[in-house]
Parts: sequence; C-alpha cells; structure tokens
Amino acid sequence: MQKAKFAMVGLGVMGQNLALNVANKGYPVAVYNRTEEKTREFLAGPAKGKAITGAYSYPELAEMLEQPRRIMMMVKAGPAVDAVIADIKPHLDPGDILIDGGNSLYEDTERRTAELEAEGLLFIGTGISGGEEGALNGPSIMPGGSREGWEALQGILTAAAAKAWDGEPCVDYMGPGGAGHYVKMVHNGIEYAIMQLIAEVYDVLSRGLGMGADELGDLFGAWNEGDLASYLMEITADIFKKQDEDTGRPLVDLILDEAKQKGTGKWTSQNAFDLGAATHTINAAVTSRIISGMKEQRLAASDLINGPQPNFSGDRETLISAAQEALYASVIIAYAQGFDLMQIASGEYHYALDMKKIAKIWRAGCIIRADLLEDIMRAFDRDQALANLLLDEHFREAVVPRQGALRYLLTHAMGMGIPVLSLSSALAYFDAFRSARLPANLTQAQRDYFGAHTYRRVDKEGSFHTDW
Ligand code: 6PG
Repeated sequence: MQKAKFAMVGLGVMGQNLALNVANKGYPVAVYNRTEEKTREFLAGPAKGKAITGAYSYPELAEMLEQPRRIMMMVKAGPAVDAVIADIKPHLDPGDILIDGGNSLYEDTERRTAELEAEGLLFIGTGISGGEEGALNGPSIMPGGSREGWEALQGILTAAAAKAWDGEPCVDYMGPGGAGHYVKMVHNGIEYAIMQLIAEVYDVLSRGLGMGADELGDLFGAWNEGDLASYLMEITADIFKKQDEDTGRPLVDLILDEAKQKGTGKWTSQNAFDLGAATHTINAAVTSRIISGMKEQRLAASDLINGPQPNFSGDRETLISAAQEALYASVIIAYAQGFDLMQIASGEYHYALDMKKIAKIWRAGCIIRADLLEDIMRAFDRDQALANLLLDEHFREAVVPRQGALRYLLTHAMGMGIPVLSLSSALAYFDAFRSARLPANLTQAQRDYFGAHTYRRVDKEGSFHTDW
C-alpha cells in the first residue's frame, strides 16, 4: 500500500477539513482520532473516495506514514497537546516532524520545541487561521520552529494554503521556536480589536441613529467595497442580512450580548504588558468582552444608573460618513499596535520576524484578511525596520485626515452614553503617540514624592530626588 505523506491527529472540524484540503491537493493522508467512532464516521462521510486512510492506534498510524513522518496535531490547546505528544513519541523516529496546528500558547511551543528537539524530533508550531471554511479551501498558515521541518513540509503546506490575488501562497516560515504561534496570537489580538471596533460602530449606528439590521447590512456591504474591504466587514454585512427562520426577525437582534473568548486576545494583551508594548485597542477589546459577560450585573445596573438616552439629533449622513472614516482610521491604528508588538517581540525573543512576510501571508485565508494588508506590505517594503505603521507616509496620510471623523464620532457617541472603549483607545493611542510631551512628568513627581523613586530632568542629565 502507498504510504501516506501526511497525518492528522484530531478529527474535529478543523482537523477534518485540513485533512481533506491536503488530500485534495494530491497528498495521501492518514488520520487518527482518540475516539474511533469519529474516524469511522469521517472515513464513511466527508473522506469517502479521497486518499485518506484511518488508523486506530499510534503504532498503526506510524506504520502508514512515509519517512520522515509528517504528523499534524489538531487538538485543543493546552494539556491535550502534551498528552498526544507523550503517546505518539514512542512510535516515532529521529527526523520525524510533529506539527501543532492548534492555537497553542507560544511559550508552550517554546518548551515543546526544546523537549522534542533534544530527542531528535522536529517540531513545528503553526498558526492556522481561516476557520472551518479556510481549513478546507485554504487557510493562512504561520509555521515556526524547526527550519528543517519547515523545509520538509513546505510543499504540502504551500499546496494547502490560501493564495492571494497574485497567486502567492499564504504560508511562510515565521521563525524559530514559538514564532509561528506568537504571530498567530497577535493575529488574534488584532482580530479582537477589529471585531470590537466594528461592534462599537454598529452600536452607535443602531442605538444612536436607530438603524435596523437590514439597513446596516447594506451600509457595511457598501463600505466593504471601499478602503475597509475585508473579510470581517464582509461577514458583518452578511450577518446583518440573516433572518431568524422562526421569527422572521434579524437573527443578530436575537443573539445574547455576551462575547466569549478562548484566550488568544487576552494572551496578546498579557504579553504586550510583559514586553512593554502599547496595545490600547487590543486591550480595550479584551476588556469589552469581559464586561459584555457581566450580563446580570448590567441588567441590574441599567435600572439603577441613569445616563443620556442614545438619540442623535444632528445630521445622520454626517455621522454615518464619520463612522466609516473613523472605523478605517482605527483599524489602521489597531494594526499599528499589533505590528509594533511583533517588532518588540521579535527582538526580545530573537524571532527575527519579517513584518512584510507576515502582512503578505495575512492577505488571504485568515480572519483579518483585508485589502489594507497590501498597503502594510508595501510600508514594510519601503522600510523593513519601520517602528510604527503610523510613521509610514501612506498610513500617515490615511489617518491624519480621518482623525477629525474619529473625534466627531467619539464626541457624539460619548455624549449619547454609548460605550466606545476601542474606538476611543485608538484615538488615545494616536494622540499619545504624536505627543512630544505627555503628563508623565507629574506621574514621576508623584512616584518620587511618595516613594523616592527619583526622576530625570529635561534640562540636565542625571537622576534626581526631591524632599517634597
Ligand atoms: C482564526 C480564528 C480562530 C478562532 C479563534 C476565536 O484565526 O481562524 O482566530 O483561531 O476562531 O480562536 O477566538 P475566541 O474564541 O477567543 O474569540
């Protein structure tokens, strides 16, 4: 029997779809799942007639594979990954390649890389973005870890990855150790930020202007034709248009307003704090999900605490057009924060991340794919070491003229009592970044006052303490 060139361990939807994707590209795949039933169902269902064979034990799986073996794990991030590694390892040979395709924490990937490489195995931790549909038809793939492992996988991953408009595959080697999962984590941080920015604009337009879902669907659809063109805008327009089958009402209006999270956005913020990176808008998105989860408290508080009634009395069209411009400017600012974080991490962790390459492989397949990524790619082409996207000429020219729209939108949203933490954090980041002087002089004085922490002066060198 012909040996399989690739294996998938874990047949959740992502694992199934990726296995199908790889098989559809002409690579025979062997699959394994902890519960046999799932393997049988997959083989008799979606995998029927494809070059996919099932294994019911790890020795059997190892036997089915061409060497070096290429085995991808698609299991829940955390202890499940370690459990699979421990079980499968005794059946592998030096040079075999284990790939973790889940949303693992990059620090876990660092640890696993070191442990497995010490035993002669090659380990790849890879971010895979694009959801179920992407997994089947072409995700954006962000592999990191063993370069030798990447070279042995490049053909398969390139075939499986999404292709951008110019035919370029959305996969490339990100860097050593946990670099692939790190980049995916920041992708998700940016994803959280953009989703929250969109949600806040929706809130202003629906509560402030009374726009209904259908009208919003048209509006977001139209915006998706312009600068804001992106997957998240496209699906938002679709969502607004979806009607509930039972009630005939817009489905979005019937969905409970409690946002869940699996942790990647939170990890991005936590890591940004550790590295000293300012990721205002990502942090705001994480904390906005948290307060959305406090539904019971919010319900109780809404009866007790008064505020203005959202009711916009100005010119509707002006507010709508400001919302569009404001959203575009804030999305750029969110990307600026994410790329800034990756620049800092790249130095700190010696990942040598290539920002242009990252923008390039995010152009298709992933959740944050957007026309804007083409501009980001060009910005890093102009200056590989660009410290902040806002310093690039193109983005300066995009954001500076739109700041008025963002200020206008925020003034009215805040006046109406609509929470706009992410939008306002984007503006605060922009204003802080362009401020030669911030009030941190006072903070330093206070620290010195109560704790003798000392301060530096603007007019002479040295470290000073005052007996206040
Ligand atoms: C992707 C998504 C994917 C997943 C997120 C959702 O890039 O394909 O980001 O990884 O949908 O993990 O994250 P939350 O559950 O935290 O929103």
